[in-house]
Amino acid sequence: MPSQARRIEESVVTLVRPTGKTCQTSEQAVGPIRLQWRGADTARTPGVRGLTPADAAIPPAYLEMSEEHLRQRIERARTALGTDLVILGHHYQREEIIRHADFRGDSYKLSQLAANRRDARYIVFCGVHFMAESADILSAPHQQVILPNLEAGCSMANMAQPDDVEACWAELTGTIDARIVPVTYMNSAASLKAFCGRNGGLVCTSSNASAALRWALDRGDKVLFFPDQHLGRNTALRLGYRQDDMLIWSPRVPSGGHTVEELRAATFYLWLGWCSVHARFSTEQIRWARENHPGVRVIVHPECKREVVDAADEYGSTELIARRITESAPGSVWAVGTEINLVSRLERENPDKTVFCLDPVICPCSTMYRIHPGYLAWVLDRLAEGEVVNRIAVDAETTKWAKVALERMLQIA
Ligand code: 13P
Ligand code: SF4
Repeated sequence: MPSQARRIEESVVTLVRPTGKTCQTSEQAVGPIRLQWRGADTARTPGVRGLTPADAAIPPAYLEMSEEHLRQRIERARTALGTDLVILGHHYQREEIIRHADFRGDSYKLSQLAANRRDARYIVFCGVHFMAESADILSAPHQQVILPNLEAGCSMANMAQPDDVEACWAELTGTIDARIVPVTYMNSAASLKAFCGRNGGLVCTSSNASAALRWALDRGDKVLFFPDQHLGRNTALRLGYRQDDMLIWSPRVPSGGHTVEELRAATFYLWLGWCSVHARFSTEQIRWARENHPGVRVIVHPECKREVVDAADEYGSTELIARRITESAPGSVWAVGTEINLVSRLERENPDKTVFCLDPVICPCSTMYRIHPGYLAWVLDRLAEGEVVNRIAVDAETTKWAKVALERMLQIA
């Protein structure tokens, strides 16, 4: 019999869009929460560590409470905690969560906020596991970071497993007589950020990837970029490099699937990783948007495929997408290639503009969606009672080196 905590992650929700197409998938919904429980067991998110029985012990009552009851509980606990608490919300969080966030933003902005809010004893991070890890690394020793649901991971981050990256590094540095600089996207485990810190590299986000690649190429001849091949490729192409300058590194395949000559010739080794949410956007969708909405501006996230980024008018981080649309003139029309919770919010908050998602069959990021208001209410209630649950704590050695890589990023941007 699965626990209630498990059951909330197995909710089956049907999302109906105006197009009539539906996305029926576990854990996903936009707008009012409509949850039906089902009993099947599913695997844990690989790569999300630190679960203990206590962590998973959300009292069943939280999963039965109404949306309004949860809202009131969250607000009551926030008031009780006062300035001891800061709640950070990533742009992809659902409405029932983001309304409680003191700050919302992209990965970069939230990591800066975590580094700067020294007055708050508790940082509750409504986002995914790698974001909470980064907040813990950048926060002060007296601060504690809490991820309301420890199973909120990132499927792309899980595509780069530390052992595979270490094996790749050993093979590349043992084969190629050149200075290779490792660059990891923020969407990665803390141990991989530490790997970059130890090996002369740095972290980047979607808002500073160009500056990070330039930094790396000022210090080395070649770049190993993980885990998102698309962000790496799109950024390198915008810096003037050609497709021939890069190759895909396939983990657990000898030499990543290449000859030694190919490895020697390449400037960029792009990890075979991608985001399943952004992989859904296509040039056909952009063509449809342009044919049906004359004057539309197309804006996409750089985790989209190369041809999609090329066909768009603009691309950038979630924060840039939000800012561009919010600051645009009344009457503007925007077709957006990113996660649906952000697009729907921009549509609601900009009633004088037309804002729609490029993809007619819309699937939210299912791991972001694991931050259900029941989990937020639970961790805040416990905090108000003086008990910390679902803490994300990165060990001292990993923190030391990951901080080196993160601070290099914060300095260049
Ligand atoms: P941003 O840094 O642009 O918010 O992107 C994070 C992310 O996970 C996008 O899928
Ligand atoms: Fe990870 Fe993609 Fe979700 Fe972003 S949208 S958190 S990259 S799975």
